[in-house]
Amino acid sequence: MNDRFLRACRREPVDRTPLWIMRQAGRYLPEYRALRQKVDFLTLCKTPELAVEASLQPLRRFPLDASIIFSDILLPLEALGCQMTFSPGPKLAEPVRTRAQVDALVPRPSAECLPFVAEAIRLLRRELDGQTPVIGFCGAPFTLAAYLVQGEGKEGFGAVKTMLYREPATLERLLERLSVQMTDYLGLQIEAGAQAVQIFDSWAGLLGPDEYERFALGPVRAIIDGLRDRGVPIIYFVNGGPHLLELAAGAGADVLGLCWRTPLDAAAARLGPAVALQGNLDPHVLFAEPAVVRRQALDVLARMAGRPGHVMNLGHGILPDTPIASVEALVEAVHAASERTPEEVAPACTT
Ligand code: CP3
Repeated sequence: MNDRFLRACRREPVDRTPLWIMRQAGRYLPEYRALRQKVDFLTLCKTPELAVEASLQPLRRFPLDASIIFSDILLPLEALGCQMTFSPGPKLAEPVRTRAQVDALVPRPSAECLPFVAEAIRLLRRELDGQTPVIGFCGAPFTLAAYLVQGEGKEGFGAVKTMLYREPATLERLLERLSVQMTDYLGLQIEAGAQAVQIFDSWAGLLGPDEYERFALGPVRAIIDGLRDRGVPIIYFVNGGPHLLELAAGAGADVLGLCWRTPLDAAAARLGPAVALQGNLDPHVLFAEPAVVRRQALDVLARMAGRPGHVMNLGHGILPDTPIASVEALVEAVHAASERTPEEVAPACTT
């Protein structure tokens, strides 16, 4: 059983820093593109055997330390009655803009509406047989609301911020329903065998601290409180949040996932040892030549050298055109660093 990812989440000592890659299954892999030639994205997500195949593809190529179930953060919104398409970005059948539309979104049992996700996790656990732990995931309520209110992905997500200031009570009601649905959804994934869960707050960084605390952090804390006694590590990924770090740590997650904007040593100094950190190589580094990838990856590792509780990852999802050779260089760098003592990796930090 490879458990160095779970051990790092719990801030226990590890033989080497575990590595997985946000969005590790997806379009940068030729075998994923081949799978998508045969089947549309939603069918892929909803057919357990195919979702498991997509989850396994990156692990066949790279010796990663965790696998993530193949799905999308927006899929569970179908349980609330929302319909959507992907091409490749998500598009809601109808943006949710009014109080009446919010009232019509009623949480329903994930076990009934999303049984294929549970089945895919059970299958994936069986296929992996301890080779790596399985991560379940959901979107954070504010990030989901950003898509729901906008109706699609759009830079700045102005529609949800407009609702925030014009009709805060309507947005709060929407966020509350999303919290309830996501707590139930992550619970289902844990029951099916997910050994850790990640909450993706991709757009929390659009908010200033006061708005973040009320409209993003509060709903995430409700999810984490609801899962506290399930006994699996919870990772909270906040994108674009250097101004929100201390608040985000207050969500109560075991691991805070950081974007590439804050160096990890600076984040660790601000947050102290009570929370593990995940990240945070800039995904664009992977478009440079392998030697640069290795150097930048070693720099991220060196910033956390000697501290327990680091899960190596990118600072946001891997991009569709990323060269495979860069991912290989990243994996090599993480493995090579483990063959050295912390002093060799980070003389500046340890002397
Ligand atoms: O290995 C994995 O992580 C795969 C599972 C996964 C997907 N989406 C598959 C997917 C996960 C964890 C996600 C999370 C997700 N989805 C987030 C949070 C992470 C982040 O990047 O900030 C967000 C914001 C979304 C919403 C979304 N879904 C977008 C913006 C898009 C289109 C562009 C893109 O980023 O790929 C999707 C579609 C989607 N989700 C694809 C995949 C592989 C591409 C669809 C295709 O095959 O055509």
